[in-house]
Amino acid sequence: MRYRSYVVRLQVIMTTIILLIFVLFLISGAGNAETIKPFTTPLPVPPILENLDTESGSAHFRLAVQQGSRSFFPGMNTNTFGYNGNFLGPTIRVRNGQKIKIDVINTLKENTTVHWHGLHVPAKWDGGPRQVIEAGESWHPEFTIRQPAATLWYHPHGMGLTGEQVYMGLAGLFIIEDEVSENLALPKTYGFDDFPLIIQDRRFFEDGSFAYVQGMMDAMHGVIGNHLMVNGVIDPNLDVPKGLIRLRLLNGSNSSIYHIRFADNRSFHQIATDGGFQENPVLLTSLLLSAGERSEIVIDFGNDKAGSTLKLIVTQNPGYQFEAMQFTVIDTQTKGAKLPDQLTAIDWMKESKTVKTRRFVMETMSMGGAPMRMGMAPRRLTINGKNMDIGRIDEQVKLGTTEIWEITNSSRMMMQLPHSMHLHDVQFQILDRNGIQPPPEEKGRKDTILILPGERVRIISRFADYTGVYMYHCHVLEHEDKGMMGQFEVID
Ligand code: C2O
Ligand code: CU
Ligand code: CU
Repeated sequence: MRYRSYVVRLQVIMTTIILLIFVLFLISGAGNAETIKPFTTPLPVPPILENLDTESGSAHFRLAVQQGSRSFFPGMNTNTFGYNGNFLGPTIRVRNGQKIKIDVINTLKENTTVHWHGLHVPAKWDGGPRQVIEAGESWHPEFTIRQPAATLWYHPHGMGLTGEQVYMGLAGLFIIEDEVSENLALPKTYGFDDFPLIIQDRRFFEDGSFAYVQGMMDAMHGVIGNHLMVNGVIDPNLDVPKGLIRLRLLNGSNSSIYHIRFADNRSFHQIATDGGFQENPVLLTSLLLSAGERSEIVIDFGNDKAGSTLKLIVTQNPGYQFEAMQFTVIDTQTKGAKLPDQLTAIDWMKESKTVKTRRFVMETMSMGGAPMRMGMAPRRLTINGKNMDIGRIDEQVKLGTTEIWEITNSSRMMMQLPHSMHLHDVQFQILDRNGIQPPPEEKGRKDTILILPGERVRIISRFADYTGVYMYHCHVLEHEDKGMMGQFEVID
């Protein structure tokens, strides 16, 4: 009797345990299927930042720099930073000629700055390392937009703090519109046929937190992530109407060079470089963007069947290849946008009008200051042998003049580091790369350019309107933070 009841009880217990395990298995299985299945999360489109001044035609914005958290993987939270939110920031959209005022409130427990990358603004409102916003403080830049339609961006720029704060999520887009952009028949309905794609990679620890710089290799090469996100989401899907779609691409990564194409290798047209429209659309099947660069492209989904999908392929160079996101064509038509033959007229700066050529050598030095040699511990990233010193002005430029800057990436032996050179204040043009005309996709207004090991690039810029101190630096943020940056002062 006792033995039988024991067996019966045992059977009941065993059955219950098996059932429980089965149920748990079902739950977790369902959970996995739901959250791990790629290309099911809709691509978030950053909201347009609300203009608080509805009366005067000027714009008044409010940006809070804040801490937050975000779940990039099922059941795991990552501590993040964001502007007016948990990760990334809203899109600031303004018009050429518009007066704008921005209240930036730093609610972080650390200092930050907000730099308007690609904007031509007075030096004191540039938001570089000289315009620190201390923890708990605020900053109130005011300036007038004086440049053509373009896709620019904003991000922090504190001395030694840029890389980590961007990695935590601080970045947003800054779009300028003007008569040209409004009158062209291009796709231009934000979130319908005109989409920003902020492309970034990240690396995570097992607990879900970001794995920022881990040791010297990361500091030298920049942090290369093994997860790719678009607008802050891994493997998103975007439903697109049939017709022409405009994509505003930003390489918002800390250091990666991205090679971008579509899975079926279809061609598309590039319409804008960093600083605005090109003269004519450029037909391409792939595009290379280094850290900080932007490009606007137009892709045709007019012949795709409703329900069909297309992947965007992003390959790090060097690094991983990702299916970055998916486009799903829906049964709706765009509003009949067209691709014009002529987009704008660019005022090409002439070499004959320049007053000066300056030379910049980007180099990796050993601790003692000697050029890097095999077996030496690389320690310093320099421009013209110097490491950034905020108390030192490296170059003085006369207001209203046009100059040629010749930038060389002098990489020796072991340290073959590509750099991404960026100038504040100006939109420049590329004269040549190693003496050869730049490819069509680089013909236009630029503020950031890839410079490969051994390359020598000549750019031409006009320093107009504003005096004051601005930065030039490598946009590999780990290089910038390690001092691959200098200051130029525009003087009257
Ligand atoms: Cu996007 Cu000086 O930076
Ligand atoms: Cu900048
Ligand atoms: Cu660099």
